[in-house]
Amino acid sequence: MARIRVAVLAGGRSSEHEISLASARSVLEALDPAEYDVVTVAIGRDGRWELGSGDSSVAETLPVPADNAPAALGAVDVVLPILHGPFGEDGTVQGLLELADVAYVGAGVAGSALCMDKDLFKKVLRESGIRVARSVTLRTGDAIENPFGFPVFVKPARLGSSVGITKAHDGTELRAGVELAFTHDEKILIEELQDGVEVEVGVLGNRDPIASVPGQIVPLGHEWYDYTSKYDEGGMKLVIPPDDIPEETVARVQEVAVDAFRVTECEGMARVDCFVVDGEVVVNELNTIPGFTSTSVYAKLFEASGVPYEELLQRLIALALERHDRRSRLKY
Ligand SMILES: Nc1ncnc2c1ncn2[C@@H]1O[C@H](COP(=O)(O)OP(=O)(O)OP(=O)(O)O)[C@@H](O)[C@H]1O
Ligand SMILES: [Mg+2]
Repeated sequence: MARIRVAVLAGGRSSEHEISLASARSVLEALDPAEYDVVTVAIGRDGRWELGSGDSSVAETLPVPADNAPAALGAVDVVLPILHGPFGEDGTVQGLLELADVAYVGAGVAGSALCMDKDLFKKVLRESGIRVARSVTLRTGDAIENPFGFPVFVKPARLGSSVGITKAHDGTELRAGVELAFTHDEKILIEELQDGVEVEVGVLGNRDPIASVPGQIVPLGHEWYDYTSKYDEGGMKLVIPPDDIPEETVARVQEVAVDAFRVTECEGMARVDCFVVDGEVVVNELNTIPGFTSTSVYAKLFEASGVPYEELLQRLIALALERHDRRSRLKY
């Protein structure tokens, strides 16, 4: 059988550049060379695309000029955009891949853009009867508004990895948090505190998505799941299945996660971040390209659900090819 030609996109312009490189390195290690013929495209923080070979050395500067990279994309069977945050997870790269008419892993243009935007995402979920936290949206120049008391969360609308997020305990912290969030985005959210159990669940599939066993996020030595809690060794504990919610709520979390995946028109994969507050599932956000190292939450949740990392990748590639094939039969 011919090997499947794969291009892995790594890095990217967002502040999650380093996380993306780590995710891509794991992916490259897990793609069996007997089955996959892999090229990597390293995207710099400056947006430059550089084409490299299929080894794990994506972090190094790669020799081939950037100009060849887009041409190479059209020549593969499937692209794995392992890019977190703006200019990767937000529909922009997905649009480029649609134009190149190449199969790619993960949500399409609309689903990616929608889920990247915490403000628009919540509107669609609310409309679909899925609970989300109350929030106020501010744009540059708007006066601060906080009907929720303290503490309250302040977030850039379109980022990830907790970058630019503040848990504000008083007016001074709120003003500083708003200022910080506005350095990352022109639109920000002030969000009511969800005082409950934080759980995450993986979703995998196109038309018939499945949910992983959920995991409970327990920050260690951190008040909340901030950047350092996420990425520092020992900053959090992932409890699979969650300790602090009953079994029927676990099933409910899975159901809501799949619903959220469907109504936002996701395909391939997503990690759905939720809170369980007084027994009710509140969806926090949905990540269409979640952290993707072999020890990331998404991979661990599926491993605990009987889908090891290498198989997860195989299934995602098959899902990407299936969608591309399905859509290639449409008349436009
Ligand atoms: N309304 C809230 N109530 C309580 N905790 C919250 C709330 N919003 C966010 N948090 C905490 O902040 C963390 C980061 O928030 P969120 O998931 O919205 O940010 P993100 O930057 O998009 O993260 P990700 O890395 O998952 O993309 C959450 O995991 C949770 O611990
Ligand atoms: Mg999150």
